[in-house]
Amino acid sequence: MPKILGIETSCDETSASVLEGSGDEVEMKSLVILSQDIHKVFGGVVPEIASRAHLTSIVPVVSRALEDAKVDLDDLDAIAVTSAPGLIGALLVGVSYAKSLAFARGIPVIGVHHMEGHLFATALEHRDAVPPFTGLLVSGGHTMLLDVEAWGHYRLLGATRDDAAGEAFDKVAKLMGLPYPGGRHVEALAREGDPSRFRFTRPMVKRNDTPNDPDYYQFSFSGLKTAVLNAVRASDDVERDKTDIARGFQDALIGSLVEKTLRAANEFGRDRIVLGGGVACNTTLVEAMRERASEIGAQVFAPKPRLATDNAAMIARAGLFHFERGVRSGLDLNAFASQPIPGLVAA
Ligand code: KG4
Ligand code: ZN
Repeated sequence: MPKILGIETSCDETSASVLEGSGDEVEMKSLVILSQDIHKVFGGVVPEIASRAHLTSIVPVVSRALEDAKVDLDDLDAIAVTSAPGLIGALLVGVSYAKSLAFARGIPVIGVHHMEGHLFATALEHRDAVPPFTGLLVSGGHTMLLDVEAWGHYRLLGATRDDAAGEAFDKVAKLMGLPYPGGRHVEALAREGDPSRFRFTRPMVKRNDTPNDPDYYQFSFSGLKTAVLNAVRASDDVERDKTDIARGFQDALIGSLVEKTLRAANEFGRDRIVLGGGVACNTTLVEAMRERASEIGAQVFAPKPRLATDNAAMIARAGLFHFERGVRSGLDLNAFASQPIPGLVAA
């Protein structure tokens, strides 16, 4: 069975993981994630600090992942590394290190698209979270709705026109004075909130939408964020109102995600919905998705938080898929801040 090392440094997590297996039978031998807490001080990720932090932690993080998996470099068949999209300086640390290791050991290196990694993450935990399925990726940087007919065949149905879902959570958290990253804090507030006091419209959802409508599968969260800002400004007691505002915001955002995902599952006749990305940690989202999916007999798979947020196991898993198909990146593998997900088929 091939053993593969995954490396992820696209944003503010330095992560390494070893997987062993083949096809959809894959065992996670180790997963190490080092989160860079320093960015909390600045209320957002500072790219230059992220690159430097990856430089100091990449060697111990990879060593630890090998130790935990009880393998050494000579046991590895390949190294997979996130090569796009992300912060360019941060990506370069992982890509350069992966290439050096691969060159030194004479094994292949495989560049992996970060969002393709997120699509594979849930399969590490749930055997049935495999294609065909409707995929919803919701993170701090991306919001993507995809129809996944098979691994490597991705029909991109919709994306965000402005802010990503996680970014909207983080911005709303900031204007309520909550720490960064704010998603889970907003979710905690919303749980205490009254759903009837602040009703915001679900973005990009019209009652008579048809699949021919250009916005049928699209998302947009910046108008919702502005509506929240206006509600906060209009409040004479933000401390009193913030749970209710958080609830109204979250209901509208989740309403939009659930509606569009169910539209896609219906149109393509999928009975599996796979969630990924940091916002998939939101249990209110997962429950709402399950409730609506049950009406059409579809199952919803969400990864546990360690696999939902950025991690190297998902990169190793996507890398293993490509490795088994003979894909190899050369030592000229480069990092790219943005790049379309590979394997896109026409929508
Ligand atoms: O996938 P991820 O770790 O990093 C990116 O690739 O962006 O996602 C991080 C995002 C942040 O915006 C964070 O606020 C959000 O995921 N997040 C949540 C929750 N937990 C994390 N958003 C809503 N509810 C949560 N419970
Ligand atoms: Zn991510």
